[in-house]
Amino acid sequence: MILRRRTTPSRAWPVLVALASLWALPAFAQRPVEITLTAAPAQLSLIAGAPTDMFVYNGQFPGPTLEFREGDRVIVHFRNNLPEPTTVHWHGLHLPFTSDGSPFHPVEPGEQYDYVFTIRPGTAGTYWYHPHPHHRTGYQIAKGLYGVIIVRAADDPLRSLPEKVIVISDNRFAPDGSIDLPASLSPEGIIDRENGREGDVIFVNGAVMPTIIIRAGEVQRWRVINASAARVYRLALPGHTLLHVGSDGGLFERPVEVDEITVANAERVELLVRGTGAPGDRAVLQALPYDRYIPQTRPRTWNETRELLTVQYASQPPMTAAPLPAVLRRIPALDTAHATAKRLMVLTQGMINGQMMDPARVDVGATLDATEIWEIENLVGMDHPFHLHGFQFQLLDRDGVPEPFRSWKDVVNVPRHGTARFIVRYASYPGKWMFHCHILDHEDHGMMGILEVRDDGNAVARTTKGH
Ligand code: C2O
Ligand code: CU
Repeated sequence: MILRRRTTPSRAWPVLVALASLWALPAFAQRPVEITLTAAPAQLSLIAGAPTDMFVYNGQFPGPTLEFREGDRVIVHFRNNLPEPTTVHWHGLHLPFTSDGSPFHPVEPGEQYDYVFTIRPGTAGTYWYHPHPHHRTGYQIAKGLYGVIIVRAADDPLRSLPEKVIVISDNRFAPDGSIDLPASLSPEGIIDRENGREGDVIFVNGAVMPTIIIRAGEVQRWRVINASAARVYRLALPGHTLLHVGSDGGLFERPVEVDEITVANAERVELLVRGTGAPGDRAVLQALPYDRYIPQTRPRTWNETRELLTVQYASQPPMTAAPLPAVLRRIPALDTAHATAKRLMVLTQGMINGQMMDPARVDVGATLDATEIWEIENLVGMDHPFHLHGFQFQLLDRDGVPEPFRSWKDVVNVPRHGTARFIVRYASYPGKWMFHCHILDHEDHGMMGILEVRDDGNAVARTTKGH
C-alpha cells in the first residue's frame, strides 16, 4: 500500500483507497478513475522546533501517490484553495494539451479545473505531478506541492517484487520554521537563481532519514524520483550493486548492473536492490558529491556525501528470491530514417537559443505525428537538465557517444559543455508544449520555449502506441 499518511481529512481518501483495491481487474479493462485533488495552505511539522507554513495537496506532504493502470480513463477534479494561481502538471504523461497543466491553463484561486486523460498503453512507469504556473513553479514546489504517479502495465514482468517509492527533495528553513525563500535580489537569492535553489535538509517521502526494511536475500523494486529544484543525486548503497531496470518512461529491455546512479532534476529511475547483506545488517543510501556547478557559485559543501535513508535488514533468516526475467519488455526504436527535421537547442545561462520564454512566441512549429531529432548543446559551465512536455523521447547519443540501450525519457541532463541528441515523435496530441531547463529557478526566469504541434489533417497512424 503506497498511499500514505495524511494529516487532515480529505474527500479524496475514499476514492484513492478504492483505486488501490481495484488491481484485481482483468487485463486491459478500461477503468474510469475519478480523483479529487485540492491544493491548499497547511501547517505541518517538518523539522524540529516550529511548524512550517506550506502548500500541500489533499493535506499531505508529499501529495498522495496516484496509481493508474494503462488504459485508465482519468478525471482529476482539481480545486485551487491557494491564495494564488496554480496548475497541476502531470510530468512525463502523454496527454491532451488542455490537461497538461502548463502555464497556458492557470487555475485561479477558488476555481476548479478537470484534468482529463487516458493512460496510454506502453507508458507504464514512474511519473510525478507538480504545479507549473508562470514564474512560480519553484516557489510552489518549495512550499510542498508535488506527488508521485505510478502507472502499471497488466503484463508488468516485475509485478511480484515488493516495491518502495523514494521521492527525494531538499529544502531550506529559517529558524522560525518557515521555508527560506530569499528575495530575488538578495545575495542568497542571486546565488539561488544561478545554481538553482538547494537546501541542507533532504527529505525522502517527506521525512528525514527514513528506514526501509529489507530481508536478506530479498529483491526490492525501488522507484526513485528527484523532485528537487536543483540538487542532483548520485546514489550509492555501499556494499551493494544495483540493477538499473528503468527510467522516466518505464522499464528498459534488459537490466543493467551499476555501482551508482545519477538522478538529475525531475528524472526517475527504477532500481532493483538485492538484499545481499545478513540479517540485522544496516546500510545507508548515500548521495555522493556531484559537481554540476559553475565554479564561482559552487557551494562550499558541494563535495560532502549526504545520507538519504537507512536500509535495515530484518532479523529473519535469508530468503531466496525468484529469478529475474532476462528481458523486461520490448522498446521499439524510433527510426532516424523517418526524421523530417533537426532542431538545435543551444543552452546558455538562463536562455535557449539566445532567448527567454515568451508565451506569445512559438519557437518550434511542427506537424502532428512528425518524427524529429533534437540536439541540445550546453555552451556553459554548469549542467542543465532539459525537459520536453507531452512526448517522451529516445536518446540517440551524448557527446557523440551512442546511447548504450534504449529507454523512454522526458528529461535529459546536459552536462557543462556537453551535447545530447534525442529522437521524438509528436504522436496523438496537437497543442503548445513547453520545453525547458528543469532547474526550477532557471525555468521560472525564462529558460523555456514552446513547441507547437499542429494537426494539418494528414497525420497517419493515430491508433499506434502512445509514445
Ligand atoms: Cu516537471 Cu515543465 O515540468
Ligand atoms: Cu538550467
